[in-house]
Amino acid sequence: MSKPKKAVAINGSPHAGLGNTSQMLAMLRRHVEKEGFEFEEIFLSQHKIVYCIGCAVCIEKGSCWIKDDYKSLSRKVLEAHAIILASPVYFFNVTAQMKTFLDRSLTYGHKPRRTWKPGLAVSVSAGSGETSVAEYLKYVIRTFGAFPVGALTAIAVGPGEFVGKEAVETRAADLARDLVKAVEEGRRYPATDLDLRFWQFMGYLVSENREFMKSDYEHWQKMGLYDGFEAYVGQTPAPPSMDPGVREAWIEEMMQEQKEGVFIPGEPEAAMKSDASAIPSETTVFELLKSMPQRFNPREAEGLKVTYQFEVSGDEQFTAHIRIADQEATFHEGAVENPDVVIKTPAKVWLAVARGEISGRWAFMTRKYKIKGDITLLMKIRSLFGG
Ligand SMILES: Cc1cc2nc3c(=O)[nH]c(=O)nc-3n(C[C@H](O)[C@H](O)[C@H](O)COP(=O)(O)O)c2cc1C
Repeated sequence: MSKPKKAVAINGSPHAGLGNTSQMLAMLRRHVEKEGFEFEEIFLSQHKIVYCIGCAVCIEKGSCWIKDDYKSLSRKVLEAHAIILASPVYFFNVTAQMKTFLDRSLTYGHKPRRTWKPGLAVSVSAGSGETSVAEYLKYVIRTFGAFPVGALTAIAVGPGEFVGKEAVETRAADLARDLVKAVEEGRRYPATDLDLRFWQFMGYLVSENREFMKSDYEHWQKMGLYDGFEAYVGQTPAPPSMDPGVREAWIEEMMQEQKEGVFIPGEPEAAMKSDASAIPSETTVFELLKSMPQRFNPREAEGLKVTYQFEVSGDEQFTAHIRIADQEATFHEGAVENPDVVIKTPAKVWLAVARGEISGRWAFMTRKYKIKGDITLLMKIRSLFGG
């Protein structure tokens, strides 16, 4: 049988076992264990971890030379599948125990691990500061190659006297289950401005001090972290979802609509402003398409050879096509072989678009009608036919 996965919680409170932080961790433990994970709570107050003396040897050589319990505890954190950083509020901040543990972790803070394992922040106060401390713990959790999936916070007016204890327990259960789920599914969240700022700041610091921060600089190079922000977060930008030509055509059409005051759903006043003489008088799509050659702008069709096929459904059911060649437009009933653009539309929709009652762009985006072929040619219809 394979070894169970493990969540490691660092508790910065001096009240081991009975403290409020410990009670909150117990709420999490119950559910994490129920999901088949191991759960280890480490009480910093029961270990010997001395202050960081700021010698910076860890930055230069890659590890701390001080012999105490720090190394073995940090190893447990780094090896865990999920990490929990927990501290009560002491003077609007984490406890000295937690702060000392974090200070001694400087070398890891300088060397992003890119493991992106799920983590939680836990904090409790007597009424002021638990949310900001939780935010702080969520931020520094990246030191250990983790990202936060959430924070468990509470106010306790005395030992075990949580305000809304049931709510705290419910929240703990939800977070515990989500933490386990995040591990199982290898969850990632989108990169954030905080990731970007951290990468920029630390990359700059390490590069500017590469003589002195030798070990950090080697790490950044070896991990390819200077290859870019994407390399750091391990997430690449998606290819553009829209053809640049299509985008330009959209913009052109939107600007045109704006100028004309064409109706866009939710903006009925705009429809009132549209030019009544431009609204076609035809009452069927068939008549409308048949009359399109009369509205044709040959100047817009220089060098253009294109066939638009319309497949109309609903109130009217027919197929027809309009051919444009030699700066002339002609209407034909029936289908054609290899049309450049096929527009499949319910009759009602095309009539509403033609009359400016709904925006063509909106109708397309909300799939009121469908198109096959070159979308930029669809955009051209407006200028080709008197739009
Ligand atoms: C030195 C000290 C400083 C504290 N500072 C704050 C504070 O700034 N804001 C607050 O709401 N509670 C403060 N508290 C109260 C604790 O955050 C609160 O009692 C908490 O529940 C203790 O959690 P624990 O039992 O896990 O240690 C402080 C307590 C101590 C001993």
